[in-house]
Amino acid sequence: MKKILITGGNGMLGSDVVPILAKKFNTIVPDQSSLNITDRNAVLDTIISGSFDLVLHMAALTDLDWCEEHPEDAMNVNTRGTGYIAEACEKIGAKMIYISTSGIFSGKLGRPYIETDIPKAANVYGQSKYEGELAVQEILSEDRWLILRVGWLFGGGKNDKKFVGKIFNMMKKLPRVQAVSNIWGSPNYSVDIGNVILGMIERDVSGLFHIANEGEPASRYDLAVAIRDFAKFNTEVEAVPSSKFPTRAVRPPMEAITSIRLNEIGFGMRHWRNALKEYVERLKKIDVV
Ligand SMILES: NC(=O)c1ccc[n+]([C@@H]2O[C@H](COP(=O)([O-])OP(=O)(O)OC[C@H]3O[C@@H](n4cnc5c(N)ncnc54)[C@H](OP(=O)(O)O)[C@@H]3O)[C@@H](O)[C@H]2O)c1
Repeated sequence: MKKILITGGNGMLGSDVVPILAKKFNTIVPDQSSLNITDRNAVLDTIISGSFDLVLHMAALTDLDWCEEHPEDAMNVNTRGTGYIAEACEKIGAKMIYISTSGIFSGKLGRPYIETDIPKAANVYGQSKYEGELAVQEILSEDRWLILRVGWLFGGGKNDKKFVGKIFNMMKKLPRVQAVSNIWGSPNYSVDIGNVILGMIERDVSGLFHIANEGEPASRYDLAVAIRDFAKFNTEVEAVPSSKFPTRAVRPPMEAITSIRLNEIGFGMRHWRNALKEYVERLKKIDVV
């Protein structure tokens, strides 16, 4: 049975991905207090002494506005920490899977990005994640890395502190909510990502892939309306421009992604609306924080 170290396993994505992988592999999931990825010696010791076959690296600083105000911390965790993991994997011949983001793109192309498009980040977070990708590719041998760029995540259930969980909870209580309608991305269900990761580990896939759910690009407004309709809430959803909610970090205006490689290797993703409908059913059964 493969032995896999998972970083960021207690985050939103991790809380759905870890149970999927734990059914098939021997998974070790340290939290930040037992393995801080900015501590190079700790990373090297843990990975080398653990003789892992694979490291799934999901840990990151993910708050875009916080990263914008703390660029050195963002680079330490998202870029240098990623590099330490790659270095340790290379030393023991382990494979590394790095979860990256559609946020590495500027969002100015006007169509969904494919794997061959050139990244140009609009903010510190995106730049720190992109430099993490470069570190992985520079440090590891060709067939030893897999980079998966994901879109706007939803999932996590009780651990969902992101847009979908928040707006679902607001719509449960409020007659009216506002959502931004002039910024678009690719909604992406963490359970579906977990299943793709499982399949890719089983088939030993390497390289760079976009793995967002299929379907048209969506704004937060589109997501809120879909959630409202699936949950059968009576809430009115008002479309507002992003200027209504000023943020420290610039948001790419259209960071949707699609894949030219995933179908070629036999991994399809369902439409985000089907995935979101399933997730809304799940949210209805729990109280999101
Ligand atoms: N959320 C999105 O919409 C989105 C979109 C595209 C890509 N991604 C990528 O997907 C991955 C998972 O995102 P997420 O939304 O699940 O993030 P999250 O909920 O913010 O979780 C991040 C995790 O990283 C861990 N972490 C942070 N700093 C660390 C450090 N110095 N050492 C060790 N662990 C550390 C955190 O540990 P603690 O809980 O112990 O602090 C947490 O478990 C990230 O790589 C992110 O860049 C996310």
